[in-house]
Amino acid sequence: MRALLVDRSAPGGLRLGTAPDPEPASHQALVRVTATSLNYGEVAFALDSVPDGTVLGWDAAGVVERAAADGSGPAVGTPVVTLMPAGAWAELRAVDTDVLGVAPAGADPGALATVPVAGATALRALHRLGPLLGRTVLVTGATGGVGRYTVQLARAAGAHVVASTGSPAENGDLLRRLGAHQVVATPKEAAGPVDGVVDLVGGPQLVEAYEILGEGGTLVAAGHSAGRGEDFPFGALFGDRSRHDRSVVTFFLPACTGLGRDLGWLAHRVAAGELDPGITWRGSWDGAAEAVDALLGGRLHGKAVLTVGS
Ligand SMILES: NC(=O)c1ccc[n+]([C@@H]2O[C@H](COP(=O)([O-])OP(=O)(O)OC[C@H]3O[C@@H](n4cnc5c(N)ncnc54)[C@H](OP(=O)(O)O)[C@@H]3O)[C@@H](O)[C@H]2O)c1
Repeated sequence: MRALLVDRSAPGGLRLGTAPDPEPASHQALVRVTATSLNYGEVAFALDSVPDGTVLGWDAAGVVERAAADGSGPAVGTPVVTLMPAGAWAELRAVDTDVLGVAPAGADPGALATVPVAGATALRALHRLGPLLGRTVLVTGATGGVGRYTVQLARAAGAHVVASTGSPAENGDLLRRLGAHQVVATPKEAAGPVDGVVDLVGGPQLVEAYEILGEGGTLVAAGHSAGRGEDFPFGALFGDRSRHDRSVVTFFLPACTGLGRDLGWLAHRVAAGELDPGITWRGSWDGAAEAVDALLGGRLHGKAVLTVGS
């Protein structure tokens, strides 16, 4: 099969080449991949940590080519969205059927390919906050792939949504269109205490976000885009009448179980136009180097989608 192979001598660290077809285990379906989307973590970290020739890639949309031998998962020909630790940047991938979501027929594969990491992280991070109806939720790094889904899902769940972005003048309209009630440049600009935070930036923004977390509130530390430490000043962790029982929780999507159902649900919302996949770069996998460069250069502010195959 053809695949994007890690090659540190090539632009973007990737070149189109060939790799052996995957051999699915009995609990895996073989999927013909039609589109993939890039994620910051795999491009910034995974690309540098594997040998040349590796086939990476977390997110893929495609069609079941061969159903799982153990009878689990969908039948041949079913459109699916898939999430695995590697193997999406190839014409064929073997996928555990419990991280495979069934998608509606006829949906745009590029839009579906944004769902696995970005959509599922947003959904599961919000689940961790508990009921959102009538609550205030702050989302940092709101213009990114995960942030856009988080804003939309929090709004759909009935929250008052505060979106934090480094560029409110440029991105305020976009974020309000996605469902934000308030757009701020930094968490401390948010009015009043918030009940929950999905933090995708870390560093000083996490510390600021914690400072405005109200009693019983939860901050999910899901992302670390700032690449900086969290330095809590003395007193920041004190409780008082309005700041009793606040939590910071860590989050790791691959440790979440039962994702297949969530992937299918998200795929249907995207296909119905109820969720905007936030695609800001789209092209053939021949253009992967350009997309990688834009992602690492912080110029994407959304999802890069690559068409896979001919
Ligand atoms: N824990 C998990 O399982 C998990 C799963 C998925 C993703 N993640 C992490 O979540 C984060 C977001 O992922 P993503 O795919 O949405 O990334 P992304 O598309 O690159 O978006 C990140 C956003 O963060 C903001 N940002 C970027 N660099 C920044 C900096 N130096 N200082 C402050 N803000 C910065 C930008 O938003 P503004 O321009 O709006 O400020 C950017 O749009 C990443 O750290 C990723 O690795 C973790």
